[in-house]
Amino acid sequence: MRIIRAKDYDHMSRQAANLISAQVILKPDSVLGLATGSSPIGTYQQLIKWFKKGDLDFGQVRTVNLDEYVGLAPVDPQSYYCFMRRNFFDYVNIYPANTNIPYGLNRNAEDECSRYDETIRRLGGIDLQLLGLGVNGHIGFNEPAEYFTKGTHKVTLSESTVQANKRFFEKEEDVPRFAYTMGICDIMQAKRVVMVVSGESKAEIVKRAFFGPVTPFVPASILQLHTDFTLVADDAALKEI
Ligand code: GLP
Repeated sequence: MRIIRAKDYDHMSRQAANLISAQVILKPDSVLGLATGSSPIGTYQQLIKWFKKGDLDFGQVRTVNLDEYVGLAPVDPQSYYCFMRRNFFDYVNIYPANTNIPYGLNRNAEDECSRYDETIRRLGGIDLQLLGLGVNGHIGFNEPAEYFTKGTHKVTLSESTVQANKRFFEKEEDVPRFAYTMGICDIMQAKRVVMVVSGESKAEIVKRAFFGPVTPFVPASILQLHTDFTLVADDAALKEI
């Protein structure tokens, strides 16, 4: 595990964007695993800037997102599909046909999960997976549990995740209670993993996840075992270590 210490959110975003742009420059047809949440937004903004300057080309890049809320249509402004368009896809030359996100409206969970795992397999796996960190240690929507999950699956969101994500919705009742998420095994099989973490509210979980035991009760802790994992975190998030 490598740690890149950044001064603040903007610095963290630039450092993470550096790693992603190096990946895309060295392998233009990279498969990028992408994340939502407030943590990676700055990283996407930096990548957009470099794209607009002509320094980056996403024409051959393929993407797979970590997760999607069950029950939300791609056109729903709260869907992760919309999030990705609003924060990244609409501003770079990634072909929509090269982007993949679980389909929240497929009520047949078994079908959707196997379809998504097959998509990842068909792409040849993930070259670089970008991650945020939930306050309870979740990655994607892999919530604390008694065991690590393998492939894409349907999860019931924990109360702490519903509380953390309600800021994006008008009312708490609007926060979906279920999601489709890539599994821990999908994430661990990515060749490289880069996590962005910012702010004091994540300091405690950063300590537990990366300086404590590897346990499914803190899903991110398994990344300690990944052979190419980089944690890009700002001073506030690293305050406890
Ligand atoms: C959501 C997403 C995660 C993300 C987490 C943290 O639950 N499913 O992928 O890492 O939120 O979000 P934030 O970066 O806003 O703290």
